Amino acid sequence: MAATGSSSSGSSSGSSSSGSSSSGSSSRTTPADITAAAVASFEGCADPRLRELMQTLVRNLHAFAVEVGLTEEEWRRLIAVLTDTGNITDERRQEFILWSDALGLSMLVDALAHELPTGATESTVLGPFYVPGSPVREFGESMVVESGAGVPALVYGRVLDLSGPPVAGAELDVWQNGADMLYAVQRPEAEEDHLRGRYLTRDDGSYAFVAVRPVPYPIPDDGPVGRMLAATGRHPWRPAHIHMIVRAPGYKTVTTHVFDATSKYLDSDTVFAVKPSLLRTFVERSSDDPERPAGVDGEWVSLENDIVLAPGDDGGAVVDPGRTA
Ligand code: BEZ
Ligand code: FE
Repeated sequence: MAATGSSSSGSSSGSSSSGSSSSGSSSRTTPADITAAAVASFEGCADPRLRELMQTLVRNLHAFAVEVGLTEEEWRRLIAVLTDTGNITDERRQEFILWSDALGLSMLVDALAHELPTGATESTVLGPFYVPGSPVREFGESMVVESGAGVPALVYGRVLDLSGPPVAGAELDVWQNGADMLYAVQRPEAEEDHLRGRYLTRDDGSYAFVAVRPVPYPIPDDGPVGRMLAATGRHPWRPAHIHMIVRAPGYKTVTTHVFDATSKYLDSDTVFAVKPSLLRTFVERSSDDPERPAGVDGEWVSLENDIVLAPGDDGGAVVDPGRTA
């Protein structure tokens, strides 16, 4: 029972003297009464944080419905969208997180969780294509396992402490898409370790690896999130980027991207993950450039990207949401 009766009609006692003896109080139940009852239903919750979460959720959900004047038909469609979202979600595809990404909630939660000091490399979304357990590769080694993956890119830089010194033995866990716009995990026939690897920094904090120049790609848009994007005139594209998780003992782990500063969609990333401090320039290099990495033929590009870690310790763990598409 939601209704608690109301004093907003002016009836203060609710007694039968106010008129209607056969049908109880004559006061009318208002939308505010319904909200108050739903909020009050959690008063007895023994866990104070759970109580706060549920009461605030109810307050804001009700305020949304009141503000937009939510109709019954819109409510039915919302339930259908949530049902479709549940139906398309399985151990490989997590459409609920995709909603969170496309509504900016993932970035907001990340920002609330990782308030890093000025100068430290900023964090951004993990995304659905991270697969733990990439192979540990040598300094400078290529993570390009399949041919035709794209324009070779030498990515290099140093991992530094916020106060300047290099961080030796930091791990960069890297993954990216190829020129076909896909991550290896999206192609069942792909080589499992294509375009992913873990690299350790040397004593001077330096790291290097061979990747390919990333390209923009659309988030999975064949489900409810894609239909929302189409219905609202939004596109599903993300600007070109390489993902990295950087871990080192005594430092806060940072989950981040490096974005191609010339990419399309930097100003309209579907998941709101672009931060200006994460833009870097790919430099075009010629085939006879003496710095050309072994095994790279023809045109290639290079990208310098230092990473600055903030002191702290969060155990280095990434919470893997267990999704791969
Ligand atoms: C990605 O960058 O891999 C990604 C992030 C959020 C949603 C979809 C893809
Ligand atoms: Fe990505």
